[in-house]
Amino acid sequence: MNDVSADRRPYVVLSVAMSIDGHIDDRGPERLLLSSPEDFDRVDQLRADSDAVLVGAGTLRSDDPRLLVASPERRAEREARGLPAYPLKVALTGSGDLDPALRFWHHGGAKVAYAPDTAAAKLAERLDGLADVVGTGAALDPGAVLDDLGARGVGRLMVEGGGAVHTLFLTAGLVDEIQLAVAPFFVGDDAAPRFVLAGAFPQDPRHRMTLAETRMLGDTALLRYLVRRPPLTAADRHWLAEAVEESRRCPPSVTAYSVGAIIVAEDGTELARGHSREQGDPAVHAEEAALAKLDPADPRLATATLYSTLEPCSRRSSHPVPCAQLVRASALRRVVIAWREPALFVADCEGVELLEQAGITVLECPELAPAARAVNSYLELG
Ligand SMILES: NC(=O)c1ccc[n+]([C@@H]2O[C@H](COP(=O)([O-])OP(=O)(O)OC[C@H]3O[C@@H](n4cnc5c(N)ncnc54)[C@H](OP(=O)(O)O)[C@@H]3O)[C@@H](O)[C@H]2O)c1
Ligand SMILES: [Zn+2]
Repeated sequence: MNDVSADRRPYVVLSVAMSIDGHIDDRGPERLLLSSPEDFDRVDQLRADSDAVLVGAGTLRSDDPRLLVASPERRAEREARGLPAYPLKVALTGSGDLDPALRFWHHGGAKVAYAPDTAAAKLAERLDGLADVVGTGAALDPGAVLDDLGARGVGRLMVEGGGAVHTLFLTAGLVDEIQLAVAPFFVGDDAAPRFVLAGAFPQDPRHRMTLAETRMLGDTALLRYLVRRPPLTAADRHWLAEAVEESRRCPPSVTAYSVGAIIVAEDGTELARGHSREQGDPAVHAEEAALAKLDPADPRLATATLYSTLEPCSRRSSHPVPCAQLVRASALRRVVIAWREPALFVADCEGVELLEQAGITVLECPELAPAARAVNSYLELG
């Protein structure tokens, strides 16, 4: 995508829990509980990490969810970051037929509802100020929804279903990441709601997604897929493996990661490399060290790639400027990492989000994560 409005669209994470046989509910009147307690906690964290959470009218009618951040600590942490306690709540409807008595409208912070123009006027009247109501043109247009959310400052959107809404965003090619929780049982009913409806998905047998992570959350398996990402090349793997080698040169520390970073020009020329704590500076980070060796005006930077064994930091105690900000301020537009920062020194590193919000392409190479992590085995990584 290269039109100007698309640049401001949020990063979209689709989160769903399904049974082994692909159902997200049964046909009973009560909502089917699919997630383990640990997976519900992941959902709560993901909401707290999002600027907005979105659901469809079908889910609002059947489940009447409040869609809140349950943890007081996570709400306090958001407020400490200058954010509202709750992310913006977003509803999608085709008909505009949403009951103002739904719990959705009466809990949490700000709300916005999107509908086709014809339905929007009726809905605005019905909701009478409970939410902003925005028309998306003749149809319910998910791209227009993302444009409007982007203009509202939403950098990260969590899409929470149901099946029709997941299908709408996926078939439009607007999802960046899927967090799929698989519950260890069958629903066994063809007529029960499914994760997605039939449709033309860009992710088909010829265009496989990247499985970035698998996690055990109690008895639930979390699969994290990166969707809209172009595949890594053999050269990317070579240079990232080289960065892992560079990370082995870091002087030992029990309080900091060992990271290697290499900046490579489009034609394959190595421009600079660095590692944590190099040349006796206990505070210097690898990405920072590599960038410092280059003239910021070097024209090769705009098409170069930064290979870093760890996600660039978004907060740090040692220096005023985190690496994600340094990369944003540089001409670099492509970053390849092996490993996302675990919650050890900072609770939730948002380096990848910060880079993506600036339009920088970030690719993860999960197959090199174990090697990058092994270099840090002296830390209590949990
Ligand atoms: N396990 C999970 O993670 C999870 C999460 C969420 C929901 N669920 C389950 O999902 C089920 C609900 O799914 P659902 O598919 O029925 O509802 P949904 O996706 O929540 O909402 C569907 C509604 O959104 C609007 N919509 C979606 N696509 C549209 C389009 N292309 N054009 C116009 N309008 C469009 C329509 O609203 P109007 O009807 O107003 O026209 C449509 O009825 C429930 O059983 C719920 O429990 C499970
Ligand atoms: Zn850093």
